[in-house]
Amino acid sequence: MTTGFEVAGGGSLSGRVRVPGDKSISHRSMMLGALADGVTRVSGFLEGADAISTMNVFRALGVRIDGPDNGIVTVHGVGIDGLRPPAAPLDCGNAGTAMRLLMGLLAGQRFESVLIGDESLSRRPMRRVSEPLALMGARIETSATGTPPVRILPADRLKGIDYSMTVASAQVKSAILLAGLYSEGETAVTEPAPTRDHTERMLTGFGVTVERHGARASVRGGQRLRATTLDVPADISSAAFFLVGAAIAPGSDLLLEHVGMNPTRTGVIDILRLMGAHIEVLSPREVGGEPVADLRVRAGPLKGIEVPVELVPLAIDEFPVLFVAAACAQGRTVVTGAHELRVKESDRIAVMADGLAALGIPATATPDGMIIEGLGSEAMPFAGGTVESHGDHRIAMAFAMAALRARGPIRIRDTANVATSFPGFTALAAGAGVRIADVDDL
Ligand code: S3P
Repeated sequence: MTTGFEVAGGGSLSGRVRVPGDKSISHRSMMLGALADGVTRVSGFLEGADAISTMNVFRALGVRIDGPDNGIVTVHGVGIDGLRPPAAPLDCGNAGTAMRLLMGLLAGQRFESVLIGDESLSRRPMRRVSEPLALMGARIETSATGTPPVRILPADRLKGIDYSMTVASAQVKSAILLAGLYSEGETAVTEPAPTRDHTERMLTGFGVTVERHGARASVRGGQRLRATTLDVPADISSAAFFLVGAAIAPGSDLLLEHVGMNPTRTGVIDILRLMGAHIEVLSPREVGGEPVADLRVRAGPLKGIEVPVELVPLAIDEFPVLFVAAACAQGRTVVTGAHELRVKESDRIAVMADGLAALGIPATATPDGMIIEGLGSEAMPFAGGTVESHGDHRIAMAFAMAALRARGPIRIRDTANVATSFPGFTALAAGAGVRIADVDDL
């Protein structure tokens, strides 16, 4: 028995929606709050399984954390050298961000730790982090194929490196910068394309000097973090499902409130606008070092595009639902340069191509992207049917939005992991107009 979604075809989205807090920022709020001197108060924290995994890891490392209570969390920081040896392996659940950033943070500790994860995380590549950390003097063991479990042995003081990343990955960049806090001298990392910069911004908010020159970010070891107050904006990656839903469902007019608008995250808006979507950015403001705005989105015809490759890292988590938008666009959409999608919570290229095909959409998976022949001229491009999410939260939510333009019900299997990033998705989506219900045995 697995849980699933049953989503009736048709409908439109309207009203106001505030999606849960940003996952990337929530993870980092626990990490930096724990390492700080003093008490950090967080509001808007994502009460999803991924961020809770990170919270529980720090509890296991001896940090007192109160909450979450309606998004409020209080972290009693133990200082940069105050973490305690864990009594058992640290469980990161489904969260790649937790595991990779923790590898950097734990590499500089004087105790041993082991990081484990669920079935999906246990298949994901960790050498992209363990290799640069080894250059810093870290001692990290993975499985023979570079996957979890990850054993981090105590190391002598790490030394700074000047590292050029081969993949555009904020997780790799962040792990190296966090290890840099425990390293001698300067630790620098250069990215091949801009990736999300929440770590750099939040470190600055905790009083750490982070230098940025073009694509190179650096930090000097030995700095202390000062506790602060954090207000986590709504997650643009969760808002993305509603942006696409309202863009494709005729008659929709939806307001998304308090959405994080960090320019390293807004690729989904740029891509949807290139496709012709009507998205207005209202009341832009800054909250705790991160830009925030309300987004109004209205339905309208979309057209197929070649997605500019420089936008790919800025929308990396949004491709499942962008593929749904492409299916509803007029003409061909081509995505290239997105090989990273193959090593997310599932192989998002293969899984989306299969799901789209099951719903009658001509989609061809390529090694680094997808070619989709949009059926936008049809009122209901998607046939009804059953799709497999492979336990990937973003696949499940993307196909829930597809039902807004489906001729019959779409059933989505294996949806329990939606709670990793978007607790309460079913109720929020139903309130906005998606004809969705949870079902117990699909
Ligand atoms: C994240 C970075 C991205 C993203 C993930 C969260 C982060 O991964 O896919 O969901 O919080 O740093 P990569 O940096 O590996 O692309």
